[in-house]
Amino acid sequence: GAAELGPYRHYMQKEIFEQPRAIGDTLEGVAGIVPELFDGIGQDGATGASAHRVFKDIDKILILACGTSYYSGCTAKYWLESIAKISTQVEIASEYRYRDSVPDPKTLVVTISQSGETADTLAALKHARELGMAQTLTICNVATSAMVRECKLAYITRAGVEIGVASTKAFTTQLAGLFLLTLAIAQSKGRLSEADEARYLKEMRHLPVALQSVLALEPQIIGWAEDFARKDNALFLGRGLHYPIALEGALKLKEVTYIHAEAYAAGELKHGPLALVTSEMPVVAVAPNDTLLEKLKSNLQEVRARGGVLYVLADGDTKIKGSEGLHVIRMPEHYGALSPLLHVVPLQLLAYHTACARGTDVDKPRNLAKSVTVE
Ligand code: AGP
Repeated sequence: GAAELGPYRHYMQKEIFEQPRAIGDTLEGVAGIVPELFDGIGQDGATGASAHRVFKDIDKILILACGTSYYSGCTAKYWLESIAKISTQVEIASEYRYRDSVPDPKTLVVTISQSGETADTLAALKHARELGMAQTLTICNVATSAMVRECKLAYITRAGVEIGVASTKAFTTQLAGLFLLTLAIAQSKGRLSEADEARYLKEMRHLPVALQSVLALEPQIIGWAEDFARKDNALFLGRGLHYPIALEGALKLKEVTYIHAEAYAAGELKHGPLALVTSEMPVVAVAPNDTLLEKLKSNLQEVRARGGVLYVLADGDTKIKGSEGLHVIRMPEHYGALSPLLHVVPLQLLAYHTACARGTDVDKPRNLAKSVTVE
C-alpha cells in the first residue's frame, strides 16, 4: 500500500534506495572473516555442517542460478578466481540440469536465489547431487525456503522482502554474500593475509556510505532516462568484473521498459555488434578505468562515426570528459574489487526512470512472475 511505499512511487524505486540499509544489515555482525558465517542451518536448531571443513577440502566451485542471480554468480567468478584462487564455473540452471557434464566430487555447488523456490535452480542442485557432488551451499534471501532446506551450507542475505519483479536489492546483497564467501574460502585455504582481510573488511564496511553517494546521482540518471525512453534498442558494454554488470543492466532495461537491450564484453564490439550501431542505438559503457578506456577509445570512435551516442559510467579515477555524443557520469569514488556493487545502481535507476518515462507497469512487468516455480 501507499503507506509502505513512503516517499517512493514504486517498490522498485524503494528497493533500489533500500540498498545501503540492506547491505548494512547483510554485513552486520561480520567482525572478521570466519567460515562459520556459512555454516549450515541445522534442522530443529541443531548445528549444521561445518563450512570450514568443506572449504578446506574442495578444489572447484560450480555456481548454479537463473536470471539476475546468475549474473551475481558471473561476477563472483572473477573474485573467486583472483582472490581465493579457486577454479569457478557458472551455469544457467536450466542448461546445466539437462546437459551432460563431467562431475568432480571435490566441487562445492553454490546455488544463488532470492526466493529459494526457483524450479530450475532447485532441479539443477538435485542434478548436481545425483552426479555425486555432495557439498552444497546456497546464498539465499529466504531462510525458510526449499533451497536453504536442500543445501548443507547457507548464507542468508538480509535484503528483506523484495516485491518488485525486477530484482535490485537482492542482487547487491548476493554480491556482498559472495564476496564474503570468496574471502572465507581464501581464508580456509590459507590464501588470505591478515592485511588483506582487514583491507577488504574496511572496504565492505564503507559500502553503505558509498552506495548512498551513488544514489545521489539519480538526477543525472533521470537526464539519461529521458533519452532512452525514446529508443527501441540499447547496447551495454563492460569488461572484466563489469561485464556481468552490463548484462544485468541490459536485463533490467528489458524487464521494466520493454526496450530491446543487449550486453557485450567490450572487446567483442568489433566482432559483430558494431554492425547494429546507428544514431538510434544508445551505447552504455560501464566503468571503464583508464586502461580500458585506452582500449575502448577506437571502439568509441567507431561508435561515434556511426552516429551512436555513448553513455559512459566512468570510474571515479578516470579522466574522460563529456563531449558531443558522449555523455559521462562520473562515479564518486574508485571502489576496487567491490566496484560492481556500486556500478549496478545507476543501471537500476536508468531502467527504473526509463520505465517511468514510458509509463510501463514497473513493479509488475508484463508476462513476468516474481518467482519462477514452474519450469
Ligand atoms: C530479475 O530481475 C528477474 N526477475 C529474474 O531474472 C530472477 O532473478 C530469476 O527468476 C531468479 O530468481 P531467484 O533469485 O528467486 O531464484
